[in-house]
Amino acid sequence: MSAVTIALEPAAGRDIAALVELEEILFPGDSPWTAAMFAGELAAGYHYVVHRDVDGVVDGYAGLALLGDEAEVHTIGVRPSAQGAGLGRALLRDLLAHAGPRRVLLEVRTDNAPAIALYESEGFVILGVRRRYYQPSGADAYTMARPAGAAA
Ligand SMILES: CC(C)(COP(=O)(O)OP(=O)(O)OC[C@H]1O[C@@H](n2cnc3c(N)ncnc32)[C@H](O)[C@@H]1OP(=O)(O)O)[C@@H](O)C(=O)NCCC(=O)NCCS
Repeated sequence: MSAVTIALEPAAGRDIAALVELEEILFPGDSPWTAAMFAGELAAGYHYVVHRDVDGVVDGYAGLALLGDEAEVHTIGVRPSAQGAGLGRALLRDLLAHAGPRRVLLEVRTDNAPAIALYESEGFVILGVRRRYYQPSGADAYTMARPAGAAA
């Protein structure tokens, strides 16, 4: 059986409105990112990719910052109607490929079982808990890391 290829492309300024819309769907109560925040991420040169559905509408996105010897997953999301079909893993693997051998860090809500399962399956481990990290919900976050040199 041949593997299905999920085509990703670099995010651009024209995608920001779609990213904001998805953030508001995916992260209600946790200060979804604004257009200004995404514009800042792109202006900083961080690695952002999107996936488009058959109609060309963005249904998945992810962003990574390279910070010296480390990398940080800043965001990753898949439209609810597109979840469970491998897109989240494809997005994360794209970020990890971009990170290369660097240690990769991220934060995730402690009650976000699907995301935690995804991260653990890609080599991340829990480092600790950041209490009330998300606002205004007050939800706790795990800090997770994929160790340096773990790249395939
Ligand atoms: C987390 C998220 C990006 C995963 O995207 P996705 O396209 O649904 O994920 P995939 O189909 O690629 O699945 C990858 C893995 O995630 C885990 N996963 C996905 N959905 C899951 C669920 N409902 N329950 C448990 N694990 C799940 C599994 O480990 C799965 O691997 P498997 O299919 O081999 O079992 C997506 O659920 C999402 O956008 N959630 C809301 C936003 C969010 O929480 N982002 C992360 C913030 S830190």
